[in-house]
Amino acid sequence: METDLLLAVVMCVTALIAAWWFHLLLKWSSGGHRRRRCELTLPPGSMGLPLLGESLELFARIPSLQVVPFFKRRLERYGPVFKTNLIGKDMIVSLDPELNSYVLKQDNRAFQIWYPESLKRILGAVLEVTSSESLHKRMRTMVLRVFGPENLRLVLLRDVQRAARSNLSSWADRPSIELKEAVSSMIFSVTSKLLINYDASTSSAGELWKHYDAFTNGLMSFPVNIPGTAFYKCLKGRKNIMEALKHMLDERKKAAERRETMDFLDLVVDELKEKPVLDEDFCLDVLFGLLFASIHTTSTALTAALKFLTDNPKALQELAEENEHISKGRVGASSEITWEEYKSMKFTSNVIHESLRLANIAPMLFRKANQDVHMKGYTIPEGWTVMICPLETHLNPITYTDPNIFNPWRWKDISEPIGGSKDFLVFGLGLRYCLGADFAKLQIATFLHCLITNYRWEVVSGGDMVLSPALSFPNGFHVKLIKKT
Ligand code: HEM
Ligand SMILES: *[C@@H]1O[C@H](CO)[C@@H](O)[C@H](O)[C@H]1NC(C)=O
Repeated sequence: METDLLLAVVMCVTALIAAWWFHLLLKWSSGGHRRRRCELTLPPGSMGLPLLGESLELFARIPSLQVVPFFKRRLERYGPVFKTNLIGKDMIVSLDPELNSYVLKQDNRAFQIWYPESLKRILGAVLEVTSSESLHKRMRTMVLRVFGPENLRLVLLRDVQRAARSNLSSWADRPSIELKEAVSSMIFSVTSKLLINYDASTSSAGELWKHYDAFTNGLMSFPVNIPGTAFYKCLKGRKNIMEALKHMLDERKKAAERRETMDFLDLVVDELKEKPVLDEDFCLDVLFGLLFASIHTTSTALTAALKFLTDNPKALQELAEENEHISKGRVGASSEITWEEYKSMKFTSNVIHESLRLANIAPMLFRKANQDVHMKGYTIPEGWTVMICPLETHLNPITYTDPNIFNPWRWKDISEPIGGSKDFLVFGLGLRYCLGADFAKLQIATFLHCLITNYRWEVVSGGDMVLSPALSFPNGFHVKLIKKT
């Protein structure tokens, strides 16, 4: 009894100190925007509890695919634009498609990229530096050399496919696999090979993957940097990865021979050689970010797609028909998917868009106002942060009939949002449109093709999806693969 009480007190005090510390950090970083508040028409809304603001409510877990109650309640009360206090910061939340698209299209003009201090600490300089236009452009050019259309067609389609086939066949012998984890590790081996020529199947290799795991687990934790906490492990994971990447870069600089296929490290070595636009630390941060983006995002999307298909036999059936038709048209059974075949997978592509619409992988995008912005009768004062929440847009019943229902056929009538649109913000919009969007879609399509033409699956356990507010699988999604005969 007494120890319980003591524990509770210690926890409260720790939480308060941490919140206070976090608050100071944010206050210091956000400048003195309070002074002008009364002169401007701010959107309606409440700032919630001191220090914690309304964060607890936003990060509460909720089941199933609905508008997060935090947003729903405020939407009903205040409309789609309101102010609140989250993670220790006053901000304006936008659930309004027009405002979302305006803010994102004004990147590097009336608005600029902004991310919470804790994320900046974790993701490094990338977020800061990329508000410079020339550096940002340079970064995009480099990344597209690896993930751009050329490489997708000539290299990645083949690599992804080989990985899918070999990994699937190794999973088929097991009584059960957890899909999210299995798919993440497969995707990590493909991407790490592409970026740093890293062979994830060799013995020492599991290391990097382990560090990323520690990093990811602590990412959404409360930022208390004390040994034992998830946040501490997260920062440590990052430190270990950065050291490993630095070491690889140094080795690569020394290597005299040119390798046959360029990976991202080669591009970095080239960049640093003469008149570099980007410096070494920045390039390493980008590398870190790319590896991370590739592990977490696509695997969540793919796992969600498989869950939706499990629950929708009709969609699964049509997907199987499309892919079997393509596969039977091929000469040898083992021959590979061609680019033309990939491009012809219409229903597969509809399934992917529909899964992405519902999956809420990047639940919020942040921008900071560089000047006072007047819109919809409100002012967004200079220095304030706008938090854009795509899910509301994706569940808007005016754009998407019966928005909570997984219905890949709806995309037959809606043109697919290439490059993003105000109604489809899964990959963002504008200047910072996701550089991995086409790669992610290619991986999902290829995996689905290899899976569905060769295997069926039975659910062993799990598969629950929760939003908090990003999508996660609290008890995993365990399935058994069975080879089709
Ligand atoms: C389903 C998977 C994915 C989703 C939903 C997703 C989502 C997003 C979103 C919403 C943004 C815009 C962020 C903002 O405007 O603040 C973004 C940017 C970005 N994504 Fe992705 N992403 C995915 C996969 C990937 C992959 C696989 C990679 C890399 C291999 C990647 C690399 C990037 C990069 C480098 C940016 C920054 C672009 C810039 O600042 O110009 N993403 N992503
Ligand atoms: C999964 O695919 C990767 C990339 O091709 C490969 O390195 C790894 O050995 C595969 N794993 C299994 C178990 O087949």
